[in-house]
Amino acid sequence: MKPETHLIEPQRKLKGLTGHTRVVGVIGDPVEHSRSPQMHNAAFAKAGLDYVYVPFHVRPDDLAQAIAGFKAINVVGINVTLPHKQAVIPSLTSISREAELIGAVNTLTFRDEGIHGDNTDAPGALRALEENGDMSVPVGEDVVVLGAGGAARAVVVALALAGVASITIANRTVERAVSLAEEMGRKTGISMHGMGLTDAQLSVAVRQSMLLINTSTASMDTRIPLLVSADWLQPNTIVYDIVYTPPVTPLMQAASERGCQTLGGIGMLVHQGAIAFEKWTGVTPCTETMHQALSI
Ligand SMILES: NC(=O)c1ccc[n+]([C@@H]2O[C@H](COP(=O)([O-])OP(=O)(O)OC[C@H]3O[C@@H](n4cnc5c(N)ncnc54)[C@H](OP(=O)(O)O)[C@@H]3O)[C@@H](O)[C@H]2O)c1
Repeated sequence: MKPETHLIEPQRKLKGLTGHTRVVGVIGDPVEHSRSPQMHNAAFAKAGLDYVYVPFHVRPDDLAQAIAGFKAINVVGINVTLPHKQAVIPSLTSISREAELIGAVNTLTFRDEGIHGDNTDAPGALRALEENGDMSVPVGEDVVVLGAGGAARAVVVALALAGVASITIANRTVERAVSLAEEMGRKTGISMHGMGLTDAQLSVAVRQSMLLINTSTASMDTRIPLLVSADWLQPNTIVYDIVYTPPVTPLMQAASERGCQTLGGIGMLVHQGAIAFEKWTGVTPCTETMHQALSI
């Protein structure tokens, strides 16, 4: 169902909250670090929408009560961040197929008939890739994903549903990679292989891959050596690091020096937010405004 558009007259500047203002927000524990309020509030102002996006600190023990409370007071939508992405699911009426496969929800939409959960990280990751000129998901080709945490789950589901031929998942803790590959291979029917970062097969997989996506937090610390050798990167491989701090990670730097096209994580951050914005308002936000508001 298309959400009701809540537009203010274009000539009227937002002067503050009124009785008409619609409320959305984000829950987390902690939540203070979230950049979503600045990103969404800038986009609401740009679109002339009388909405406000508020961060709410919700502790795990209060989660179910908080969700019921949001429904009771007519909140339109809520983003969900750590540690609530899985725990919130029992409080929902329905969840999308992607969220079900991933096993985590990051966007709630409150409707008359109940509370719906989506995971916008998966489509956000692909939209960010595809908005970049000649970059796209290599349908029918082999891809490599580094990391096997929460973000890897979303990326693997997105790639599988987009139709890649096979996914190699390589992770520091080999058991997590093997278990994720087994679970997602079974659920999606796509061929997946889990392995450790020191597995000899990883160099073969990277050399043959059209797309390498890093989801490991190792990229956030520039002192950590690259998880894959730069020598394995072929110039026709797209290297996509979903980490957004720093904006250019050591992996992206090394890949760029090898002649690869590279992409960082800020676009995914913007697009996962833009998809939530669309679900709540029915309006396509200005992603350039969202990008600028992040000022990363
Ligand atoms: N751009 C976006 O919109 C977006 C969205 C979601 C997440 N992210 C980013 O993605 C990153 C991962 O998030 P997450 O939620 O998946 O985190 P997570 O669940 O904690 O997973 C962390 C992953 O990084 C690996 N790792 C950590 N330190 C490592 C090291 N020193 N060497 C090798 N591997 C290491 C872990 O391996 P082990 O299993 O061995 O511990 C695990 O696979 C974060 O930087 C996050 O900000 C970006």
